[in-house]
Amino acid sequence: MPGHKRQGMGELSAGLAQLDITEIEGFDNLHQPEGILQEMQQYAASVYGAEETFYLVGGSTCGILSAVSAAIPRGGKLLIARNCHKSVYHAAYLRELQLSYLYPRLLPEIGICEAVTAGQVQEALTAEPDVCGVLIVSPTYEGRIAEVERIAGVVHEYGIPLIVDEAHGAHLGFHPAFAAGSSRAGADLVVTSVHKTLPAMTQTALLHVKGKRIDRERLRRFLRIYQSSSPSYVLMASIDNAVRLAAEGEALFEQLYENWNSLLERLSVLKNLTVWPAAAMAKIEYQKHQDIGKLVISVKNTDLTGKELYSRLLEEYGLQMEMATDSYVLAMFTIGDTFDGYERLADALLEIDRGLKRTRQAEINREYPSGKREQVPFARAWDTPGAWVPLKEAADRYVGEFLNIYPPGIPILVPGERMENADQRLIEQYLTDGLNVQGISVREGVPGLKVLAEKYLSG
Ligand SMILES: Cc1ncc(COP(=O)(O)O)c(C=O)c1O
Repeated sequence: MPGHKRQGMGELSAGLAQLDITEIEGFDNLHQPEGILQEMQQYAASVYGAEETFYLVGGSTCGILSAVSAAIPRGGKLLIARNCHKSVYHAAYLRELQLSYLYPRLLPEIGICEAVTAGQVQEALTAEPDVCGVLIVSPTYEGRIAEVERIAGVVHEYGIPLIVDEAHGAHLGFHPAFAAGSSRAGADLVVTSVHKTLPAMTQTALLHVKGKRIDRERLRRFLRIYQSSSPSYVLMASIDNAVRLAAEGEALFEQLYENWNSLLERLSVLKNLTVWPAAAMAKIEYQKHQDIGKLVISVKNTDLTGKELYSRLLEEYGLQMEMATDSYVLAMFTIGDTFDGYERLADALLEIDRGLKRTRQAEINREYPSGKREQVPFARAWDTPGAWVPLKEAADRYVGEFLNIYPPGIPILVPGERMENADQRLIEQYLTDGLNVQGISVREGVPGLKVLAEKYLSG
């Protein structure tokens, strides 16, 4: 193995096939590293300020599954930021965990989720002393950075571990304009997607561990369970390449920083669209709390929806954005972007902006669902039989599927939560705006969803 015998065949390029070796003589085994992979992982640990780092070939997804499984006993309670990625929920399902939520505040200026705060974590842990670990996301999809050092301090006072989903932060710490990474800030486990913000192949990620709260052997066990027994050397070589490039890449990050600043400067004359962060924001604010790899472009109070802006940028200007919601579009920048790309984005946004109208009633920036709902345990609910009902009849019923717009996939409702009237109205509005609401299926033109059969819910 592999079957191509390291030759280009058909459409498979010879260069790629050459790199695609397995655990043959002279190479190493990711699940028992003793040679080159051990050295590469140790190097990554030193770069990110971790004690030990594991290469991941199944994305941050398999890192999160492994981190949660290792850190929390089966059936234990995990406190998570509600805006976590679905892999966190999947880990909770597999390990039958109880979930408790930290609801991020909404940033009123722009309508995105703020990162959770140390105060919120403190309050939750005081109220629920049976929590076995905390998981937060930082940077968030939109680039908000949490006060990880303070949060780690609070969590550790309870003698429990802090896991940080840093999937969007592989570049942190590599330039003075970036916040420090979460390992340096004291988190016990940090999962980061190398492929998202550094020049690496899709699916590449890292898991960093630090301190004594995590049983390393148990962590290795779960990594063996959730990762392939044939990890790709193409992916692993690509991790090493990206980490070395980043560690020695101050000039590349400086270029990104300059390009980004000049983009914000150009966009400071927008009349109708609003961007976050804005050029006027204090430097220190985005260094500490906002990742400069993300730009939120809000259509609030204009006659355009986020989805329409996304489509116009793609179809009229050939610019691919990361995602769109009803009220904004998210752009992402890495050291892979060219100066020309920044210029084209600025030109396009300024041109679109000139043709927009400000509308008073286009308050499309609705409240993000933020509050505890009546619920039955999630892991059990996801396995409970149910029936499809029209969305119009779903208020007060316990939902059987995740309901979220994708991307970013943050749940409006988690299986086992009772749908409130406000949730129902929000989903209807999303559908009217043409957004992709996962968990909703259409039967004979009527949108609906699975709700749980009440008879299974007691006991
Ligand atoms: C916040 C967050 N965490 C984790 C993941 C999973 O990362 P990966 O795609 O590397 O498995 C994603 C993916 O979009 C994400 O946005």
